[in-house]
Amino acid sequence: MAGTAKFSSKIGIIAATIGSAIGLGNVWRFPAETQANGGAAFLVIYVACVLILGVPVMVAEFTIGRRGNSDAIGSIRNITGKKKPYWLIGVLAVIVPYIILCYYMVVSGWTFSYLVHSIDGALYTPDAGQTAVDFGAKMHKYVLSDYSPLIMTFIVIALNYGVLMFGVRKGIERLSNFAMPVLFVILFVFCIYVMTLPGAGSGVKYFLDPDFSKVRPSTFINALSQAFFSLSLGMGILVTYAAYYPKETKLARTASTVSVLDMFVAIMMGLIIFPAIGAFGDFDNSEMAGSALIFVTLPEIFNQMPNPGLWSTLFFILLNIATLTSTVSIAEVAVAAVQQRFKIGRKVSTLIVIAPLLVFSSVCSLSLGRWSSFTIFGMTIFDFFDYVATNILLPIVALLMCVYIAWIAPRNILHDEITNNGTLRSRFYRIVIFIIRYIAPFLIALIFIGNFIK
Ligand code: PFF
Repeated sequence: MAGTAKFSSKIGIIAATIGSAIGLGNVWRFPAETQANGGAAFLVIYVACVLILGVPVMVAEFTIGRRGNSDAIGSIRNITGKKKPYWLIGVLAVIVPYIILCYYMVVSGWTFSYLVHSIDGALYTPDAGQTAVDFGAKMHKYVLSDYSPLIMTFIVIALNYGVLMFGVRKGIERLSNFAMPVLFVILFVFCIYVMTLPGAGSGVKYFLDPDFSKVRPSTFINALSQAFFSLSLGMGILVTYAAYYPKETKLARTASTVSVLDMFVAIMMGLIIFPAIGAFGDFDNSEMAGSALIFVTLPEIFNQMPNPGLWSTLFFILLNIATLTSTVSIAEVAVAAVQQRFKIGRKVSTLIVIAPLLVFSSVCSLSLGRWSSFTIFGMTIFDFFDYVATNILLPIVALLMCVYIAWIAPRNILHDEITNNGTLRSRFYRIVIFIIRYIAPFLIALIFIGNFIK
């Protein structure tokens, strides 16, 4: 079995894995989902989904990676052999994140642009307008334009190349070890500042006051999908990263730590965004979802704070860290696959994966502006990629991986990996095997079906 590079420290393992998990899912998706699904009521269901389903499925994915000791395709081959077709699950687990990467890079480019224009002050010049409508118009104009988003997207693609070509330790681990502490410090500073603003209390109440009348069957499905998205489950990411874990790493403990930290960041984001709107905004008129929240509502709020440039810069540094460590992890799935399947060097395999993004991401970007009249099933290419990847392919891959490790791979593998070959207690094993055999497949299937009914 060809050995892979390994992360060099426990901190590096947690930092890299949490770096993958913390991303737009926490900042962009979580507040909107929480608001749309009953505030604290959603939060309680989300926490339960992460703990009951997220942690065991994460352990299962770690098991495939560490045991298989290769990329997503090679790991499955190493476990069940070349002759059986199960490695095709690995192929899907490489393709799906790549599709996601194509448009995630575009959003990453926008966040980079907003960082640049927070620093140079262009975002907050008085003649550019100060109201939410002005910020909305600015965002709209920017996204629909041809060149500026492309240039920024190319810059973040180059940044990803710069990290990935240095490999697991000198690239991914070094970036995560530096960036994750910075992200947490900014998060704390922001949270403390926002909490002290007059009017913040109404936002906290809005975020944490449960409204059970909004809970519907779809709330559970939304909480489950959010957990999968946020924890980077159902793609080859965690399989690929776990191949870089040394034999001593405790998989169950790592999965619990990563999941809890990811949840913590999502909740902190809620404790920043809702109180900020409570202090300066208007809950009924503020856009809470996706791009509008980040590029319209928040800039409008920063603009009313003393030192808007400073707070805006801090926020977009945080967001750029979150997206960079996520895009690097999504791209690493393909880089590892190319490197190991074709036995080529790191720099060339990184180039093979990253270079086509210059075209694919450009197409996604232009599909929002100049080419927006070209649609597939009524969606722009950008939206189509997003829809197919996250609503259809992601649950399918997650389900196949779960069934693979629970029912197909030799039984002892999960036991050996959770207990580090019998040296740790096997309490977790019984819980994990029960959940991934009898509960997770049904719930993942439910997400899949639920996405169509919604
Ligand atoms: N977990 C990361 C996030 O929450 O943004 C990365 C990610 C996972 C991105 C799954 C996209 C995705 F579909």
